[in-house]
Amino acid sequence: MRRSTPAVIAAALAVLALGAAPVALGQDPGSGGGLGPPESATPSGEAINQLYWFVFAVCAVVFVAVETALVLFIIRFRRRRSATEETEGPQIHGNTRLEIIWTLIPAVILVGIAVVVLARSSAVEATSGNRSNELVVEVQGHQFYWQYVYPEGQIAIDKLVLPVDRPVKLELVSYDVNHSWWVPELTGKRDAIPGRTNELRFTPTEEGVYEGRCAELCGVLHTVMPTTVEVVTQTEYESRLRLLTGQDEPGATQLALGRETWDRVCAKCHGLAGEGDLGPPVAQSGTLVDAEALTDLLENGQDLPANEGYMPPVGRGWPPFQVEALIAYIRSNERLAAPQPPAQEGEG
Ligand code: CUA
Repeated sequence: MRRSTPAVIAAALAVLALGAAPVALGQDPGSGGGLGPPESATPSGEAINQLYWFVFAVCAVVFVAVETALVLFIIRFRRRRSATEETEGPQIHGNTRLEIIWTLIPAVILVGIAVVVLARSSAVEATSGNRSNELVVEVQGHQFYWQYVYPEGQIAIDKLVLPVDRPVKLELVSYDVNHSWWVPELTGKRDAIPGRTNELRFTPTEEGVYEGRCAELCGVLHTVMPTTVEVVTQTEYESRLRLLTGQDEPGATQLALGRETWDRVCAKCHGLAGEGDLGPPVAQSGTLVDAEALTDLLENGQDLPANEGYMPPVGRGWPPFQVEALIAYIRSNERLAAPQPPAQEGEG
């Protein structure tokens, strides 16, 4: 036993040193030094960070107290040289006062943490304050992309633009399996679950570009389900919205929506030029320009036996103008479809 004492002390010191490493390396503790949450661009995210560091501080105090006591006890009560193998220490049975103390201390700590967390929960959920001019955006989780629908029906994929200093409410839905919307610099994550609508509120207070991703394993391409949130001025937000398609309108915005839909939905499996990747090659396929067949495939997917040719219902819930925009883009792209005579374009 005597030989193991220095080893235990060394191990305890190593654990302590590991805990202090980020600080010792000079990393900014405010950003967690890579171990904690990033600095937040919203008050609700800031509330989450404060709770994180509060709980971390309590745990750190407990950790240091327990480890210090452990090391001191190892040294203080180690086996003396004079002791023989048979010598036993004093045998103590029961100490009511001690047991009450070490039951009460953890209870007080846990109740304290609970009180602080509950008191801050409305700040985390961003339910307090004036939210009369709240911007409501529908967020659809799909295999494998995020579709954003703005209040007037404009559609964007994987990239959300928000005005700074305006409260936002995301309404999260899913058309296939569970996904989870997570942009760590804005606020906590929230699931998008089929059959229900989850809400996520926050107010971005700093302009910038924030990266996020799907945080719920949702299938084979879960890893290519990132998202970007760009926070801009109100004027910039309005001009960005005008670039998005919300109606059945031919022209530049329709082609832009079609292209975005191809690039961020279809191409993730079938390649940018339809050359095939995880999914089969589809370039020049008749289905691509057949509105009825394409709509059916997008809404219902395809599930051939033995998992050969499985395709999720990627376009479930799309408005008809999105399918039309997709077909318009496919027709405009010679690699995807044979050029069509102009008379057949711009239908509907
Ligand atoms: Cu969607 Cu993971």
